[in-house]
Amino acid sequence: MKKRTRFAIFLIFLFAFFAMTSCDRATVEPVAADPAPLPEAIAEVTARGEAAAKVLMERLGAQLKGAIESGGPVAAITVCQQVAIPLTTSAGAAFEGVTVKRTTLKPRNPANAPDEHDRAVLEAMAAQSPPQPVIRWEDGVAHFYRPLLTQEVCLKCHGDPATFPKELTEALAFAYPADAATGYALGDLRGAIRVTVDLP
Ligand code: HEC
Repeated sequence: MKKRTRFAIFLIFLFAFFAMTSCDRATVEPVAADPAPLPEAIAEVTARGEAAAKVLMERLGAQLKGAIESGGPVAAITVCQQVAIPLTTSAGAAFEGVTVKRTTLKPRNPANAPDEHDRAVLEAMAAQSPPQPVIRWEDGVAHFYRPLLTQEVCLKCHGDPATFPKELTEALAFAYPADAATGYALGDLRGAIRVTVDLP
């Protein structure tokens, strides 16, 4: 194949890629709702979403830190397994008309798998650098998605599996046989906190 032909094919693929990603993004932009939400509604949902996400991150972060300090990552797996979902649910219950979920394109716990709308949002977020919060509007509710980036401490359990101690690999395989949540690098989008807010 001639060099110029190869270059032309490359350009077509590049164009198709950008066309696809920009369409995806348009479907999840706050203004995609009809009628478009008022600025006050956007501000209200953002404030409530950030508040609930903050509560969850503080509570989960404290549990994770305490568990790693006292028993290392293997013991912390058991703690995560027992407390992560109840803590997520209770972070929503702390606010009226709010429910909270954590989700990701590569779940460790199948209970955190994305639905089709979550997936579209996560894919659009992953294409942004850095990922930004997204609001998805529905009849009567708004879903506020807060991106979760991979920090240094997360790599202990979500990084390159080749760096994991043997006991950790075994504990993960036992508790999460379908684990997809490894192979992340620092700063990667690990997932999102989804805060669903009832609209008045
Ligand atoms: C001690 C090991 C460990 C560390 C460190 C850790 N996680 Fe996890 N993570 C888990 C386990 C176990 C689960 C599955 C249990 C759950 O949360 O539902 C999980 C689940 C998650 C989920 C829910 C989606 C899924 O894959 O099921 C997200 C999001 C997440 N972790 C993000 C993070 C972030 C961000 C950090 C760093 C701030 C982090 N984790 C650090 C062990 C860990």
